[in-house]
Amino acid sequence: IADVQDEIDHELISKAGIASKIREVAAQASEDYRGKNPLLIAVLKGAVNTIAAFSQALSIPVQLDFMSLSSYGSGTESSGTVTIRQDLSTDVRGRHILIVEDIIDSGRTLAWLVDELKRRGAASVEIFALLEKPARREVDVDVKYHGYEIPDEFVVGFGLDYDERFRNLDSIAVLKPEVYQGDNQA
Ligand code: PRP
Ligand code: MN
Ligand code: MG
Repeated sequence: IADVQDEIDHELISKAGIASKIREVAAQASEDYRGKNPLLIAVLKGAVNTIAAFSQALSIPVQLDFMSLSSYGSGTESSGTVTIRQDLSTDVRGRHILIVEDIIDSGRTLAWLVDELKRRGAASVEIFALLEKPARREVDVDVKYHGYEIPDEFVVGFGLDYDERFRNLDSIAVLKPEVYQGDNQA
């Protein structure tokens, strides 16, 4: 494959669309968190592009941290059991946390993370999700800042991968069906 676009069927959200949505949310979050020295937390790896763009669009100072999580379960039904592959380097006690996520599907990853951060003594825990697939939601997650709602199609780009590929695409796109030909899309 010569070009990252070669296996893309069509674009769902353009680079400009992503940027303008992130600017809009960042303006609101900058007001809400002014004076609170928030800690932005991204779940690796998908949220890397979103936290980079979002943090740069904020007008207030923030701190950043990262966590690598893996959720176990049989292919289609995730158990909701999450294991920490790489933990934060920040003590979250008393901190105002804003989790930045690329996409919420079942909601299981974030439901677990919100509970975990509260258990560790965070003063508040809120979520910005760039993308949400309401059709696939299995558990309730309270999202404060919404990006785009998308249909139940397999999307890649702006951090989102298919089999670890396409994360560096600068827009959100739908793959040609032959690329994932019947694989489970989790
Ligand atoms: C994807 C995505 C979210 C999570 C959403 O991450 O980036 O973190 O799945 O799914 P859920 O709402 O059903 O829990 P993935 O586990 O593929 O890891 P990645 O970010 O490294 O791609
Ligand atoms: Mn992820
Ligand atoms: Mg992934």
